[in-house]
Amino acid sequence: MSDPRWEAVDAYLHDALLPADPVLDATLADARAAGLPAIDVSPTQGALLQLLALAVGAERILEIGTLGGYSTIWLARALPPGGRLISLEIDPRHAEVARSNLRRAGLDDRAEVRVAPAADSLRALAASGAEPFDLVFIDADKPSNAGYFAAAMDLTRPGSIVVVDNVIRDGRVADAASTDPAVAGSRRVLEAIGAHPRVRATALQTVGLKGYDGLAIALVRS
Ligand code: SAH
Ligand code: DHB
Ligand code: MG
Repeated sequence: MSDPRWEAVDAYLHDALLPADPVLDATLADARAAGLPAIDVSPTQGALLQLLALAVGAERILEIGTLGGYSTIWLARALPPGGRLISLEIDPRHAEVARSNLRRAGLDDRAEVRVAPAADSLRALAASGAEPFDLVFIDADKPSNAGYFAAAMDLTRPGSIVVVDNVIRDGRVADAASTDPAVAGSRRVLEAIGAHPRVRATALQTVGLKGYDGLAIALVRS
């Protein structure tokens, strides 16, 4: 599903709203040169993540799914001096590209990539009694989303924001009979979010450079 207007409007919004950014351009160029799939967030989505991080005054950010570090850079740039971002990635090749992109962006002092299955890293974070994260961005293997959301609820505090990417999938999320594990994963996480007593949440359908998809945004309450 696509419409040429979606990309044209994203290009227009990019020009109108977002400053030219050679570091982000180089990040995407290096990710493609290294053969990483073009599934990074779009520029306007990256800007939304950054705005959310700024709006909650995030000093600690957790990302699940690094790829080449494009969303990581948008998020890490919202951190104040002394802030910290941890990004979880299963693929060491992706992590290497991301680390190199973070170095060029001057963010390697505050953004760190941990290479392991995210479920393992999340368990280790919880066991270490890590300070709560102010924003969690869930964007890795979609079938695991409900597990990642549950882990995020244990690693946040009232006032934290949890964002889940790719929950609409061309509208297939509304198909209860779908056999696509990514769609089933999105449905499970949306239902877990909706049923959780300590979150206020919504999800929005989006169109643009990334086709027809969308994201869920949850605010943790006391
Ligand atoms: N957030 C990135 C895109 C992430 S793409 C951006 O917008 O720029 C999804 C990433 O999740 C891929 O790099 C993939 O290797 C990683 N991934 C997949 N399964 C994973 C798992 N079980 N644990 C950690 N990372 C995983
Ligand atoms: C896919 C994954 C993503 O995180 C995304 O934003 C778009 C597509 C995918 O696996 O197809
Ligand atoms: Mg995504």
